[in-house]
Amino acid sequence: MCGIVGIVGQSPAVPRMMESLKRLEYRGYDSAGVATLSKGSLERRRAPGKLDALAGLLANSPLEGNSGIGHTRWATHGEPTEANAHPHMTDKVAIVHNGIIENFKELKDELTASGAEFEGETDTEVVAKLLTRELETGAEPRAAFQTLLSRLQGAFALCVLVAGKENLMFGAREGSPLVVGLGDGENYLGSDAMALAGLSNRLIYLEEGDWVELTRDSVQVFDRANTPVERATSISQVATTMIDKGNHRHFMQKEIYEQPTVVAQTLGRYLDPNAGTIRLPDMPFDLKDVPKITLVACGTSFYAAQVARYWIEKIARVPVEVDIASEFRYRDPVYVDGGLAIFISQSGETMDTLAALRHAKDAGQHIASIVNVLGSTMARESDLVLPIHAGPEVGVASTKAFTCSLSVLASFAVQLAADKGEIDAATVANYVSELEHAPALMAKILSDDEKIESIARDIATARDILFVGRGIYFPIAMEGALKLKEISYIHAEGYAAGELKHGPIALIDENVPVIGIAPDGGLSEKTVSNLQEIMARKGKVVLLSDNKGSIADDMYAHFEMPPAGDLISPILYALPIQLLSYYAAVEKGTDVDMPRNLAKSVTVE
Ligand code: M6R
Repeated sequence: MCGIVGIVGQSPAVPRMMESLKRLEYRGYDSAGVATLSKGSLERRRAPGKLDALAGLLANSPLEGNSGIGHTRWATHGEPTEANAHPHMTDKVAIVHNGIIENFKELKDELTASGAEFEGETDTEVVAKLLTRELETGAEPRAAFQTLLSRLQGAFALCVLVAGKENLMFGAREGSPLVVGLGDGENYLGSDAMALAGLSNRLIYLEEGDWVELTRDSVQVFDRANTPVERATSISQVATTMIDKGNHRHFMQKEIYEQPTVVAQTLGRYLDPNAGTIRLPDMPFDLKDVPKITLVACGTSFYAAQVARYWIEKIARVPVEVDIASEFRYRDPVYVDGGLAIFISQSGETMDTLAALRHAKDAGQHIASIVNVLGSTMARESDLVLPIHAGPEVGVASTKAFTCSLSVLASFAVQLAADKGEIDAATVANYVSELEHAPALMAKILSDDEKIESIARDIATARDILFVGRGIYFPIAMEGALKLKEISYIHAEGYAAGELKHGPIALIDENVPVIGIAPDGGLSEKTVSNLQEIMARKGKVVLLSDNKGSIADDMYAHFEMPPAGDLISPILYALPIQLLSYYAAVEKGTDVDMPRNLAKSVTVE
């Protein structure tokens, strides 16, 4: 989603803002821009497309000035054109904005009636014109900014420069994150710690409703009631070096192949192999008293939640409810006293998941979050944080965050079962040992990638592809379909294998590949029967299994998986489906790391 950087500085702002915008590229964007204040006047450059287009513009027509604001925009109101790109500017102010101003239409009508003209379709341009009108009444910048905030409804993070005031910047947070970076004789604003990584590691996370006035040597934070407030300074753990792809062609590829390492690191934080026990952080509530668990997330994190439901119900015998965050709070969920609500989010900033978290918190549930970004809003608003330790995930398609989230959830399920008295110490130790073996098995699967690459090349021409699995492999099938469609743009669906005959089997013909996820044991025979039904209708079955069994001769392809225990199997089966999607996308020549229309962190509803 959109990214923000702001500098009230002592040296040229543009090169440093461009570096920050580069760090924000991973969030997904379709236009970018910067504005600076030089000799009292505001100037800007904006360009649709990638940062290279903006860099080209700046090379031909540089901007001077030590104070500036920059933005990467993921289009919401209006297409990704230059006119809609940020910063939005008048002769008095320049503004960058993340989020959505919900009452922008009404404000625009009001401004239009008093003679304002608009060049684009964005809600942000309305904010710039509204602030300008306040300044034109003679209001001081601070008072004008306060009035502006009182008129806005919706979710926003704003960063504002005022003409003639080189040593001044305003920021505000309402629903979209905004972070202050503290420098020496300079101060900064950013949409997240990553934006500020090259500028400062001393950060102040603004709270909802906060606004801030920055100069080079002062930072004053105010709450929604305009009362000055102190907010804690924290030290960012985000690496200052630019994350690179190493020897890989894409970040997604790098992130797929580093999974054995990062999952081992994650498990290293949650397992004590010598003692054969699980280590969870101290909890402000007792797991043994939790009567019900609610798991809420979006996209890939939602599929992690669905996998976890099987683990928790099977091993710990605790009832679990799972929902998509964008639906959860609107259906008036029934909470149980003392219930634990767990929110899973790589970014920790996904708007729908955050809103669901607040809904559950208001209802008095214990709140836990499973996040990759430690300073994220979800982490800060939770009673318990279970970090996934995946390291920065840049590819829009989530891969290592999925397997690391699963590793945390599996550890959690085992500890919950132990605390509930459902399993004894010996069983915990067996699970710990099984989890410990996951990274080595992951490495083995990845070393066999040529086979899956060749299957991916074959199926990349298909128009539709189905993924099927039963039980805990049903969510893995849905994750496979999501991964494939988001990066290769091939239409794909994930189904419970037993459900095919209730409708989707009508889609099957010789042009439809079906990826069957069927590890030996458990429900595999039933899945294999369903795959046979598909083959009887000429469907091209690709089987992912450690046992090709009776259907070997009729299959289109088989990717051999190593045998593994039930607990870690879903984690392992995530790998071939990621590879399949990745290589199909490469074959199709799509923008793998930044697929069209998508953003890494979805901070709008
Ligand atoms: O940061 P989050 O885990 O909350 O993000 C949730 C989804 O937006 C995310 O998983 C999305 O579905 C990915 N693009 C999937 O690869």
